[in-house]
Amino acid sequence: MNRALVILALAAATPAWAEPDAAALERLVLQDCGSCHGLTLKGGLGPDIRTGALGHHDNDSLARVILDGIPGTPMPPWRPLLSEAEARWIAAYLLERDPG
Ligand code: HEC
Repeated sequence: MNRALVILALAAATPAWAEPDAAALERLVLQDCGSCHGLTLKGGLGPDIRTGALGHHDNDSLARVILDGIPGTPMPPWRPLLSEAEARWIAAYLLERDPG
């Protein structure tokens, strides 16, 4: 699925008041984040964001990077597309998905 479709699907599936939709967010991480960070998130244009590479982050700092991006780099802000709760879900997912 291309990026616009993923975003549309996510917007349709996730009204602002809803709990984060885990399946849609997992798809977004692997496909959209994966388009820069590699399909297995081990790095591409963007760095490795597997669990083991994120030791310098906690849920707060990761959610900030996801929502605000990293100015001056290709890492985009996701605030227009993701709620705070969704960014925190993704942060927790990244910190737990492949421990060790
Ligand atoms: C357009 C390409 C692009 C997309 C899409 C993208 N990133 Fe990034 N990301 C980057 C780049 C490039 C960097 C490194 C920026 C720098 O030089 O510090 C980065 C950095 C990061 C970092 C900081 C890593 C660290 O070790 O501190 C995190 C976390 C991150 N991205 C998560 C995500 C997540 C989660 C998504 C999807 C919601 C995403 N990125 C989508 C390009 C992208």
